[in-house]
Amino acid sequence: MNITILTGAGISAESGIKTFRDANGLWEGHDVMEVATPEGFAKNPALVLDFYNQRRRQLLEVKPNAAHLALAQLQEQHNVYVITQNVDDLHERAGSKNVLHLHGELLKIRSSGNSKDIKYWDKDIQVGDLCEKGHQWRPHIVWFGEEVPALDKAISIVEKADVVIIVGTSMQVYPAAGLMQYAPQHASLYFVDPKPSLSSNSKLTVVAEKASTGVLKVVEMINN
Ligand code: APR
Repeated sequence: MNITILTGAGISAESGIKTFRDANGLWEGHDVMEVATPEGFAKNPALVLDFYNQRRRQLLEVKPNAAHLALAQLQEQHNVYVITQNVDDLHERAGSKNVLHLHGELLKIRSSGNSKDIKYWDKDIQVGDLCEKGHQWRPHIVWFGEEVPALDKAISIVEKADVVIIVGTSMQVYPAAGLMQYAPQHASLYFVDPKPSLSSNSKLTVVAEKASTGVLKVVEMINN
């Protein structure tokens, strides 16, 4: 079967990475406009670079959890695509092969002057770190107000799904939150979140648990 998995910050919570909107989440400590917008970067690049330097350092200390691993295992019997809002590489480290990052990747940087100039980077970036053409390197992250280049590809993947599993997202940020609408009529939908923002219906099964147990339950349901 074609299985599409849509994940958000909640799937990485049990790996020790803060979500954005839970109590004491990432945005609680920061003004989103200051650290996650192009305007914020223009106004105070050092503050923005430091915010992402801290998250990049932390990412190198954490590892995938049981939910990432269970989803990677689904590849053994099914054609699986992960579409994630997360910028961590935990799905890839768990073994998922087809991962599409809607909001960018923490372990990549790109030239502020040329969006095609992207490279793998697992260290800090400081103001004054310039690409070959002399432009400031920036995190390869989609900030609020920036376009989501992978959106069309994500829609075409969801349109072919037999099963859609949504894990750990508050469904508050568009266009990511709207992707499930593109699932075909016949597709079965599953939603895993301890505080689900959706309720079960004839096509949607809600598992109101954390990812490490809820995803395993959904895998069970799919494989039986
Ligand atoms: N397992 C599963 N889900 C969990 C867990 C857990 N252990 N802990 C928390 N959650 C759920 C929360 O209940 C919430 O619904 O994860 C969700 C996290 O929601 P957000 O913090 O809003 O994260 P997300 O939906 O990924 O945010 C989307 O917003 O800030 C932007 O670009 C950022 O990609 C991010 C986007």
